[in-house]
Amino acid sequence: MQTDTPRLLLGGLTAAEFLRDYWQRKPLLIRGAFPDFACPLEPDELAGLACEEGVEARLVEENGRDGPWQVSHGPFDEATFSKLPERGWTLLVQAVDHYVPEVAELLEHFDFLPRWRLDDIMISYAPPGGSVGPHVDQYDVFLLQGGGTRRWQLGGKVADDTPILQGIDLRILERFDIEPGQDWVLEPGDMLYLPPSWAHHGVSESSDCMTISVGFRAPSADEAVTSFADYLGEQLPPSRRYTDAGMTTPEDPTELDDAAIARMRSLILDTLDDPAQLAQWFGRVMTQPKYVDQLTPTDEPTEVDELVAELQAGEELMRSPGSRFAWRALPDDMATLFVDGDGVVCAKVLAQSVASDTALDAHLLRLPGAAGLLVALIDAGSLCWAGEFEEE
Ligand code: SIN
Ligand code: CO
Repeated sequence: MQTDTPRLLLGGLTAAEFLRDYWQRKPLLIRGAFPDFACPLEPDELAGLACEEGVEARLVEENGRDGPWQVSHGPFDEATFSKLPERGWTLLVQAVDHYVPEVAELLEHFDFLPRWRLDDIMISYAPPGGSVGPHVDQYDVFLLQGGGTRRWQLGGKVADDTPILQGIDLRILERFDIEPGQDWVLEPGDMLYLPPSWAHHGVSESSDCMTISVGFRAPSADEAVTSFADYLGEQLPPSRRYTDAGMTTPEDPTELDDAAIARMRSLILDTLDDPAQLAQWFGRVMTQPKYVDQLTPTDEPTEVDELVAELQAGEELMRSPGSRFAWRALPDDMATLFVDGDGVVCAKVLAQSVASDTALDAHLLRLPGAAGLLVALIDAGSLCWAGEFEEE
């Protein structure tokens, strides 16, 4: 790998400086973030992925046959690509890190950020003039130029109600004013960090333009409130409800008075204000896989003896591509290990080893409860045998 310190990746800043001054606050252009960068994928390999069933791919044509900014969804076939014009389109493929190990390796460079904030690595290819139009994303994104050149222009932070073009499948801004000095051509290895809601417009300037977007998601208040309420709701007894014991006779029985509102408010806030439950919910939500059907549980349950024998024979397990892991400490050196939307209590050291990048080999068996946990994770599809994966 070309870069081994966040300082180089972040244009001379330490991770702490970047997080203090730029993360979620303002863009940062980093020339040579990955010196001598060799793109881990060729344009035709990206097109090949876009033809596969189950891979999320989009094609954006600025002057499509059915109108401007036409979006079509994969899987595509060779005929689709052969009919495209020489200019003015973009192919976007999501979650390339799930399919190409060399792309997943790029994530090691972003370990100065919580892993559970990661969404995926999207890669785009565009011939000259190709773009997806000026827009904003609700994501923090590192736009790494993989191959060729792309001109990026930034328009500053925009409000939620900024007008967007109607009648198309993209959220393109009706108005895009480039901020002075925010106009650059990125070469391979250059990287641009953008916080959410920042207007940006990237246009390919070469016939081999590949842009690698490392995107970080954050749940919206809307999603968080609804999802946490659903999670808690499943566990609340029917007897927990609005109560008004000891109330006084209402002045007017049709009035919804202040006392009633205050009682309802405390019911909701007191129920929601449960940090232990919130941690359990948050870990599950942030480890939910992006594509649930990519998780393939085993047909037959794995035997513990079989697992132990394989590990002792030198076999290694690996985290399934697309599976997400996180952990949270509990008292007495225990932890909840969150995997793919579920939570399991185990020794903290075991949760850390399974969630982090350490090798999943026979050494793990020294940890209490390891064999049972590994078997459960294999059966759920979150771990797989490294040997079998390489053969596929
Ligand atoms: C692209 O790669 O063309 C678009 C990436 C983005 O603007 O988020
Ligand atoms: Co964008």
